[in-house]
Amino acid sequence: MKTENEGFSSTFGAIMAAAGSAVGLGNIWRFPYICGKYGGGAFLVVYIFFVFLIGMTLMMSEFVIGRRTGEGPHRAYSALRPAHPAWRVIGLTGLGTCFLILSVYLIISGWTTNYFWESLVGTLAGIPDDGFAAHFNEFVGNPSRTILFIVIFLVLTTLVIIGGVEKGIERISKLLMPILVVLLLVMCVRSVTLEGASAGLAYLFNPDFSKLTGEGVLAALGQALFSLSVGMGAMVVYGSYLPKDSNILKTSVWIAVCDFAIAILAGIAIFPAVFACGQSPAEGPGLVYQVLPVVFNSFGGVGKIFSIVFFLLLTLAALTSAISLLEALTRWVSNAKRGRTQSAVIMSVLVVILSVLAAFSFGDNAVGRLRFGDMTLFDLLDKLTGTVLPPVCALLTIIFFGWVLKADEIKDELSNHGVHGVSYFKVFYYVLARFVAPVALLVVLISGLLS
Ligand code: PHE
Repeated sequence: MKTENEGFSSTFGAIMAAAGSAVGLGNIWRFPYICGKYGGGAFLVVYIFFVFLIGMTLMMSEFVIGRRTGEGPHRAYSALRPAHPAWRVIGLTGLGTCFLILSVYLIISGWTTNYFWESLVGTLAGIPDDGFAAHFNEFVGNPSRTILFIVIFLVLTTLVIIGGVEKGIERISKLLMPILVVLLLVMCVRSVTLEGASAGLAYLFNPDFSKLTGEGVLAALGQALFSLSVGMGAMVVYGSYLPKDSNILKTSVWIAVCDFAIAILAGIAIFPAVFACGQSPAEGPGLVYQVLPVVFNSFGGVGKIFSIVFFLLLTLAALTSAISLLEALTRWVSNAKRGRTQSAVIMSVLVVILSVLAAFSFGDNAVGRLRFGDMTLFDLLDKLTGTVLPPVCALLTIIFFGWVLKADEIKDELSNHGVHGVSYFKVFYYVLARFVAPVALLVVLISGLLS
């Protein structure tokens, strides 16, 4: 039950909020790296297929489920099929996944916020090129600073949630998303105008089909789900806030296009600069915290400004994503007695406990020495939230949508109760939702579990 009569004020506001959720660390640091690694343009072809066919199908499903019921994932599934309350399991698994994702997300956001701060006060500018790896290792190995920035970042996130759906989430997304795009464009212009930039563009875009392995195809699907924030119920929550007159198909297309465009722009902002300054692309944290600072320092005096711009951009992108995760969790525990503020605080406290614990994975301490197989606590959470849980939830969601819900119910919601027609409904429902998406998810899941 919605405790307050809340929702987004307009389709534009809803698109900004949902694009805010979608655009995050996944676009800016993860996408460029895996795109280059798995064959550039070759990877892109597969990625486009997954984003616009599988990912968008899921997004539309989650929006339909959310808006039709006006409920978060913990209630929406059973509200649609009251005779079979066991369908709740899908929503609950999704929310559990949101909780775990947020705990990992906070750690990386904490690192990013710290690097923003260190750019601002000039610390990064004073480090020699070969000192960044040691700087990063020392920083993560002694998590007290990480924890400080996790807490600052989480307090900001919580304040937005307490502000409400329209006055908090929608307002901040409408403000931050355009800023983010402008900052990203500034970075792109700088990057492509450097001498030697074309090698970076070639790395990103030239198709190399020999690098597109089975693993690369799996990575493309995992990345598409993660990047669109689908498969864990976050979009069910935003769907429940979607105005009744928003066209779900068009809204989803806009969000997917924004998310995709920003991922590509991030690649254009990063690789040409990396190659132009003679560095080689590294994986994940190494790229952002060890290679890019060297690139910024090579710009001379203005480098400091680009470093500030980049880490600010990354922090803002992470913030609007963390907001959607915390909103889903807040919605879960809020009810007539326990309002938004109290619920948001409870969930923040719970998630920060896990996050802080996992932040100790990098140091020489009891948690750091803990192993699950050969993984640290951080690695375990990262694996669960990166490759295991989202495809499971996505598969369950699409089975419920394609095989349990009736075509008429779905068509009714997509057409806003018959107000407008639904072009391509047959393709969407009978081809994508019932067959292509479930089969693709099943294949990915099985091969992921086998490997
Ligand atoms: N889509 C976000 C990103 O690309 C991550 C995210 C996943 C946010 C799931 C919310 C829900 O970084």
